[in-house]
Parts: sequence; C-alpha cells; structure tokens
Amino acid sequence: MSDLVRVGMLGSGFIGEFHTLGLRYVPGARVVANYGAGAERREAFAQRFGSRPVDSIEALCGDPEVDLVVVSLPNQLHLDAIRASVRSGKAVACTKPLGRNAREAAEMLRLVEEAGLFNAYLENVVFGTEMIRMREMVEAGAIGRPLTFRAREGHSGPHAAHFWNAELAGGGALLDMASHGAEAARFVFGKDVQVRDVFAWGATLVHGERTTGEDNAMMIIRFEDGRAATMDVSWSSKGGLEGRFEVYGDGGRIIQDITSTPMRAFIERPAGYIGEKADAETGWVFPVPDETHVHGHDAMMQHVVEAFRSGTTPRETFRDGFIVNAILDAAYRSMRSGRWEPVEVVPAVAAA
Ligand SMILES: NC(=O)c1ccc[n+]([C@@H]2O[C@H](COP(=O)([O-])OP(=O)(O)OC[C@H]3O[C@@H](n4cnc5c(N)ncnc54)[C@H](O)[C@@H]3O)[C@@H](O)[C@H]2O)c1
Repeated sequence: MSDLVRVGMLGSGFIGEFHTLGLRYVPGARVVANYGAGAERREAFAQRFGSRPVDSIEALCGDPEVDLVVVSLPNQLHLDAIRASVRSGKAVACTKPLGRNAREAAEMLRLVEEAGLFNAYLENVVFGTEMIRMREMVEAGAIGRPLTFRAREGHSGPHAAHFWNAELAGGGALLDMASHGAEAARFVFGKDVQVRDVFAWGATLVHGERTTGEDNAMMIIRFEDGRAATMDVSWSSKGGLEGRFEVYGDGGRIIQDITSTPMRAFIERPAGYIGEKADAETGWVFPVPDETHVHGHDAMMQHVVEAFRSGTTPRETFRDGFIVNAILDAAYRSMRSGRWEPVEVVPAVAAA
C-alpha cells in the first residue's frame, strides 16, 4: 500500500457526497472509485470528483486500487456492503446507523473483528468542533459532574424514498436521527459509562400517508449510575435542520446549536443550495458556508484516514455503532411495551 489512501465510495447520494467533500483537505487521500444506483448518476459523480464509476458493490470492494471502502448506501444495504468488503479483505467505514437493528450490527462487528480488518463508524456529530469543545470542557470539570444531556434534532422529512419505507429502513425518525444523539451522549458522558435502559415514545403524527414509521419520537437513555440523556427527534419540524445539544452539570451548562449559522440573508430570488434540509429558498434564509466542516464530516474523514494510515483504532468503530443500535432496539421495544427496556449489550462488547 502506498501512502496514498485510495477510497472506494459505495453510494454517491447525499452522504456519499458529504464523505467525499470531507476528504478534500485530507492530504494523500482521494476517492478513486464510486458505486451507486443508476449509471448516469454514477458517471456524474465520477466526473465531478475525478473518480471512476463501477457497476456493483462487489466490483468496488474487489477493485485492487481501493484501500478503504466507505459505505454511504441506504440502511438496508449496509450489511451486504460490509459482507462484500470483508470478502475482499478491505478496510471499511460505514455511515450511521450501522445496522437496521443490533442483530445486523453484531454481524458486521463479528465479520470485521474475525477478519481483523480496520473498521470505522462514521458518526459525524461527535467530530463537530462544538461537540469536541463541549467534551473538553466537561473533561476539564468546567460544569462539575454532568447530570443530564439533551439532543434535539429535526427537519421536515427525509429527501429520499428509502427513508420513508420503515420496514426496509429498519425504523423511522428515531433510528435515523436519535442515532446521532445517542452517540453524542456517550461521547459527552464518557464511553466507560454504560447505558442501562431506555424509555421511549414515538408516533406517526404527520406523515401517515408516506410511512408506517414514527415521524416524531423521544427517548430517555439511563446510564448505569442513574444519570440520563434525552433525544427528541422529528421529521415534521419546519424551518430547516435542527441540531441542538445541551449538557447540564451540577456546576454549569453548555449549549450548542450546530444549525444556527453566523450568516443570514433576505433574498427575493433563489441562490441555489442553502444547506441541508433548508425549507425555504427565498425570504429569510440561513446559508451554511462550510457545511461539511460545521457538521463534523471534514474532521471525521481526516481522522478515519489518519487512523487507517497509521494502523491505529479510530475513535468510533463498529463497536460504537453496535451499542447505538442496541440502545435504539431497546427504544423500539419500549415504544411497544410502554416500559423501561434494558439495553442488551453482550458484556464482551460493553467492556471493550
Ligand atoms: N451522517 C449523516 O448526517 C447522514 C445524513 C444523511 C444520510 N446518512 C446515512 O447515509 C445513508 C444513505 O443516505 P443518503 O441520504 O445518502 O441517501 P441518498 O438516497 O441520497 O443516496 C443513496 C445512495 O445509494 C444508492 N442506492 C440507493 N438505493 C440503492 C440500491 N437499491 N442499490 C444500490 N444503490 C442504491 C443511490 O444511488 C445513492 O448513490 C443512510 O444510511 C443514512 O442513514 C447519514
């Protein structure tokens, strides 16, 4: 392997583009091959990023030029993609949620660990500069003992059909969005504190004609020492993307809002792309000048490439993705049972 890290991008839609843009300032790393549904779209992506389109998941994973496979496909294809990358003996990084449930995630974890392959869980939220600063301040003791954490994430609904098919995707807004908040809570409290159980509510309040999945949901995750964190998510929140994260300690609080921008504009004519899930093209708009930086993708991709190159374990691995899936599985059980449900993480995973 040369010093150049050659990335194979599986999926060239919304997050495939963000992951590719996230590599643009990373020295010695670039996307050399890409796959996605539809020859024309694959070709367009390849032209834009100077890559080479390939026509199947297997072909991309087996491509001798590819060192690191990045899975940016819809949820239902993550397991197949990871099976293919492991068959080809390739290092792999996968977007959130790792699996549609903990069973799938456990299988992915088993595959990469048995094969001894580099694996990274692509959770951008814990790489955002504000989240990093929040954690540093908590670690410095600035707010005393953190007691509760709160995540609010919302937008007016996903951009692609696969999200709306809850059976195929594995869930609705909770799986899609609270996956971020759950990992952010683990990051801020410290991953050595285990999550014990979960209480959750979810309902299809607005989009019943489009999905059987929940479009609004809340969950409380309780840690083993009694502290708690809440994730409050929505697919019916108007006015653009919401991403607020708050931690409260016995000596202070820290609040961040990654979707409040330093820029605002009143425009009578559209200016093109404004930002993820912006609901308005004219009137008052809030452009995000460097979205992949603000949302943590740049730092995340840089970290993953550096870890791969140096043969070290990345900050977020399939173990973290598995734990997040186990938390979300407990939340879905709680929605059905109306009770607190235990998080079923096998001790070997929890301890590592
Ligand atoms: N970290 C984040 O903030 C974030 C944001 C959005 C999406 N995601 C995750 O990324 C994944 C993809 O979401 P997206 O928003 O990029 O979706 P998308 O629809 O924009 O792109 C999906 C890509 O997969 C390809 N694809 C779709 N169906 C396929 C099929 N049946 N066979 C082969 N290829 C297929 C498409 O051609 C496209 O290239 C999901 O798992 C989602 O949860 C993460």
